[in-house]
Amino acid sequence: MKTVYLETFGCQMNELDSELVRGHLESIGYGFTTEPGDAQILLFNTCSVREHAESKAYSRLGIVGKRKKAGEDLVLGVLGCMAERDGVDMLRRYPQVDLLCGPGELDKLPMLIDNVAKTAVLPGDQPAEDGRVALAGNTSRRSASLSATKDDLETLDLARAFDPDRATSAARSAYVRITRGCNKFCTYCVVPYTRGAEVHRPPDSIVEECRRLAAAGVLEVTLLGQTVNHYRYHHGIAVTIDGRESPQIGPGLKAFRNEPIDDAGITTFAGLLARIHDEVPEIARIRFLTSYPRDFGDDVLEVMASRPRICRYLHVPAQSGSNRILKLMNRGYTVEEYLEFTDRVLRHLPDASIAGDIIVGFPTETDEDFEATKDLLQRVPFKNNFIFKYSPRPGTTAIDRFEDDVPESVKKLRNNELLALQAEIGAAVHADWVGREVDVLVERKTNRRPPNAAPRSSADARVSLGAGITTTPRGDGALPEPVQVAGRTQGDLITVFDVVDADTADAMIGRITRVKVDGSGPLLLQGSLVETGSFAS
Ligand code: 5AD
Ligand code: SF4
Repeated sequence: MKTVYLETFGCQMNELDSELVRGHLESIGYGFTTEPGDAQILLFNTCSVREHAESKAYSRLGIVGKRKKAGEDLVLGVLGCMAERDGVDMLRRYPQVDLLCGPGELDKLPMLIDNVAKTAVLPGDQPAEDGRVALAGNTSRRSASLSATKDDLETLDLARAFDPDRATSAARSAYVRITRGCNKFCTYCVVPYTRGAEVHRPPDSIVEECRRLAAAGVLEVTLLGQTVNHYRYHHGIAVTIDGRESPQIGPGLKAFRNEPIDDAGITTFAGLLARIHDEVPEIARIRFLTSYPRDFGDDVLEVMASRPRICRYLHVPAQSGSNRILKLMNRGYTVEEYLEFTDRVLRHLPDASIAGDIIVGFPTETDEDFEATKDLLQRVPFKNNFIFKYSPRPGTTAIDRFEDDVPESVKKLRNNELLALQAEIGAAVHADWVGREVDVLVERKTNRRPPNAAPRSSADARVSLGAGITTTPRGDGALPEPVQVAGRTQGDLITVFDVVDADTADAMIGRITRVKVDGSGPLLLQGSLVETGSFAS
């Protein structure tokens, strides 16, 4: 059986897609490698959100192209948003590419790989030259609407094979999709085109998936959607023959003007969060990405405040602090509305962490607009902001409507200035936690090796981890080598602390442990282990 190398570019949605693709291919016998040189099938799950991500993928295609030219018998597949956006055009321009598979077609990937091997073209597929195959275009908005109810992708999410071994290394954390696609049409963004119309998964399927993940040892789920608070499921509309509810298309922006909804026939985002929390108590942390700053009702904040296992963390992109630019971006809210929202969050959840995204250098952005963005950053205690330089994307409204008129040098300056400002804000936010105790889900060892502590007896080196795990002192009398580990708090603050040796570190990964915060920086907390002797398992 051939071995697969799968590399992922871009967002969490792509990471989840890759995990599902991998599980699917493994279940039918494919092996995987992390070394491209060892693979006969190379798959790149691509991202089109910014040009930079695309360039990286193109350079990978170049490398594989050279190997093919040199005579290696390889299958090269492009998955995800670039496959969707470029379509067969990519096959023409990149002869080394054997197959394309858009994000709405990933359930059919095994068939595509098979067909490349047979150099046959599927009936009804877009024919490609030389027997190469392309399945893209099904996320086009019309066909996505039509196919939502007989959604094969739903099968891929539902059939997810969760591997506890892999989960341990990933700190027993898993993504769960609640919504695919997007109906917002921000003018700069390709997502509504590459991932299609907003489709909400039925709540029963989502709860069931969380339950299965918990049974496989997952401690933390991150619910994924482009705008999670627009999750809305109307019951009793679409049911499959076996009685299951089907995914369904979400309403447009206007539908959210009359909140709150109190209708037993509708599951809102607040209702979904409450169900997962109450029905799957084994999940210690429930997080969600990404929030949209409008239409985030108090109902969600109340559910968060009353349910301790829902993380007090919001990723809620502002994109700009200028109302004029927000309008050109078609974001659908003003700076004042954004601030009203973040104030409301902090009133309900004083400990909440807020993170965001900002785009600098959007067409026509003046110094004054940029100053307004700086003001916005100073008004909100952002733990971090991802800052992007505007990148005109083919197919979007912005590229047609506006000239990319902010020079690259200005974009770079604004980017750096915001990074520096965010570092100051982040430092203040993190410093606020010094002296407090936090629960950290330990994820990994870092590369930093702390200096060895003063010599001590081997008995001191024994650490009880609870749940029957202790580290044993080394028989040769050598000092244990301390190791630094990193994890995240409930509010997604990265926290590092030292443990006595590598075995202890390994035993802690994937556990939640109490840490006293002793210091901080712009991006993280530094702490020390609180010896409570018990860990959530
Ligand atoms: N240029 C720059 N940044 C973009 N983003 C989305 N599209 C673009 C673009 N064309 C950013 C937004 C979004 C994040 C995922 O990527 O800030 O929130
Ligand atoms: Fe893109 Fe806007 Fe949808 Fe986010 S809300 S995915 S930025 S169109």
